[in-house]
Amino acid sequence: MRVFVTGATGFIGSAVAAAFARAGHETYGLTRNASRAARLEAEEIVPVEGTMEEADAWRSVAERCPVLVHCAVEYSERTWDLHRAALGALRDAGRDRAGRVLLATSGVWVYGDTGDAAVDESSPLDPPTHVAPRPAVDAAVLSWNGGGFRTIVIRPGCVYGGAGSLTASWFETASKNGAARVIGDGTNRWAMVHRDDLADLYVRAAESGLGGEVLNATDRSRATVLECATAASLAAGAGGRVEHVPVEQAVAAMGPYATCLALNQHVDSWKAVRRLGWTPRHGGFVDGAVRLHAAWRASSAGTR
Ligand SMILES: NC(=O)c1ccc[n+]([C@@H]2O[C@H](COP(=O)([O-])OP(=O)(O)OC[C@H]3O[C@@H](n4cnc5c(N)ncnc54)[C@H](OP(=O)(O)O)[C@@H]3O)[C@@H](O)[C@H]2O)c1
Repeated sequence: MRVFVTGATGFIGSAVAAAFARAGHETYGLTRNASRAARLEAEEIVPVEGTMEEADAWRSVAERCPVLVHCAVEYSERTWDLHRAALGALRDAGRDRAGRVLLATSGVWVYGDTGDAAVDESSPLDPPTHVAPRPAVDAAVLSWNGGGFRTIVIRPGCVYGGAGSLTASWFETASKNGAARVIGDGTNRWAMVHRDDLADLYVRAAESGLGGEVLNATDRSRATVLECATAASLAAGAGGRVEHVPVEQAVAAMGPYATCLALNQHVDSWKAVRRLGWTPRHGGFVDGAVRLHAAWRASSAGTR
């Protein structure tokens, strides 16, 4: 199949695009930056230059691709407008053509603080301010399902592996300051998933007949944030030292995003296991901390 991935150079999108390419699909990846095109080509992904806001640059490519995957994000005041614009353009490229599927990346933060009882895709949403517009974006995507056009919303937990995304800050702070920084007391748990397991879920979802569905993507690891940060600190040579930043102080410095890092979440992904035969193969951040630290260090070597 031909596959078009927005955000193909990003943390999630690069793993997703590579997984499609490895599964034998002809994969096209959007990037704003011509200098990143070579990175895509090295993964056997055809680079397509353009932006979310100017779909004219990539519409004709998307129209030729039965699988459309949205992994791009711009962290700015226009984040949600750009999500709506890109998803709308992908919808227009896909619907009215039989046998197309749109996979849209969401996230588990929309469930809010779940406490220790697991939530699943049928649970009510309680998004913190930082992701408040996301449920409406997800609902719009699901409403487009039908008439031969399948739409699926994927909600990854905090994604680890490679350069690390959110988990990178534990390695960074441990390396630079001698202690891994944690927002709050760290007794909370993040729902997590390794990015290669996540990428495998996208491929399975695209190849399935599923449509009009939300799929959570989390592994079964249940370590606390403090346990993860301690493991990261040990791996980074900081002796397991952890520095706690009170949530209010973190919000003052980082904005409402910080409250997401203090969420306590338990998110069930049994639906993907049952419906797609998806089995996360990675055992969690703590198990892989030494290897993950080496991957983070190698990934960031060129940028430090
Ligand atoms: N990381 C996580 O742990 C996590 C967990 C759950 C959900 N999510 C969600 O997953 C999605 C992807 O996150 P990520 O962590 O992979 O993000 P990321 O690493 O920051 O990647 C963002 C990608 O978007 C592209 N991009 C940025 N602005 C663009 C624009 N104006 N037009 C076109 N492309 C643009 C960038 O490509 P170029 O710079 O090459 O153009 C890059 O490939 C987001 O919606 C995020 O909220 C992430």
